[in-house]
Amino acid sequence: MSAGAAFHEAYQRPPEVVWHAPGRVNLIGEHTDYNDGLVLPFALPLGVQVAAARRDDGLLEVRSLQAAGVPVTVPVAGGPIPAEQSWAAYPAGAAWVLREFGVGGASLLIDADLPQGAGLSSSAALVCATLLALCDLYGVEIERPELAKLARRVENEHVGVPSGLMDPSASLLATAGHALLLDCRSGLSGKVPFAPEDAGMTLLAVDTRVSHALAGGEYAERRAECERAAGLLGVEALRDVKDLAGALGSLRDPVLRRRVQHVVTENHRVEAAAGLLRAGAVAEMGAMLVASHMSLRDQFQVSWPQADAAVEAAMRAGARGGRMVGGGFGGSVIVLAATERADRVRESIAAAFEGQGWEAPVFLEAAPANGAHRLPA
Ligand code: GLA
Repeated sequence: MSAGAAFHEAYQRPPEVVWHAPGRVNLIGEHTDYNDGLVLPFALPLGVQVAAARRDDGLLEVRSLQAAGVPVTVPVAGGPIPAEQSWAAYPAGAAWVLREFGVGGASLLIDADLPQGAGLSSSAALVCATLLALCDLYGVEIERPELAKLARRVENEHVGVPSGLMDPSASLLATAGHALLLDCRSGLSGKVPFAPEDAGMTLLAVDTRVSHALAGGEYAERRAECERAAGLLGVEALRDVKDLAGALGSLRDPVLRRRVQHVVTENHRVEAAAGLLRAGAVAEMGAMLVASHMSLRDQFQVSWPQADAAVEAAMRAGARGGRMVGGGFGGSVIVLAATERADRVRESIAAAFEGQGWEAPVFLEAAPANGAHRLPA
């Protein structure tokens, strides 16, 4: 059933608007966004749909097809969310951040075909789809780069997750057949062609079935370490480190040295990867992905056993490259392989997981799709 039809059934009236916002895969540029650096994500075909209609009592009522239990109703101005319905903090936060733009009450029905906790940015997709639906309902016009900043505020200030600008930007600004090269300091972005099939390649997304939660302390800890290192180096953000050897020489703490090494080299890898894509050298990007994975594993220390095993098994089966994506400690990896080898790569990863007695991985379609858009109500 579509989100619109489910809305009709739940509320006994048709929705006024329906919006879709996709999840994302980040090709490269991990843990660079909150260091004011560069990222290169693209939007997935999968995402979150929000069907909505106005109501005049200043309340937001949210129902989700993925969450059992009673609907959550909160004042748009904010109010407590039941602990067992914590997902509702995302749409509630979207209404809360838009209240100063004149957005009022609404009834929402949420549906998603994107797995949650798979590191594919389901939370940013939920926030973005809700923001767009509410803006549409109340005739509020906000440029998408600004909307991405509002989405980040929802996660940072309302939900309490210190995430960066990458996920909402990918969901709102990406275009089919392209990756989005985003400068997280200026907020400026550009399109980079990314059509692996034209080069005889396939990009697989592999959900390792280890659920990740950004609210867990490690993400915030990495962020704090980066800020501490930037402070010690006298720069605004690690993006500004121009002399890596000099910076590493001046930091006494070995942990901070590792963090800086990752962020600075990862930023260079994004630029190099974007250059390769512009030159149509998709396969050559594989080495970049592997270098990124090793840096995330050894320097930034955010990988997890299933991600390492998936990348190793993929490489053994002849993939061109692969790496973990997202915040780390769970979620998904991506693998780039020649299309004729893709089956062998899948089998190799599945066999490695089976050999360890781990839950079977889930392979997803990862073709670059369009960013958020309106659906027929
Ligand atoms: C999560 C965050 C992003 C980004 C990545 C790591 O996905 O939501 O803002 O920091 O981790 O690159």
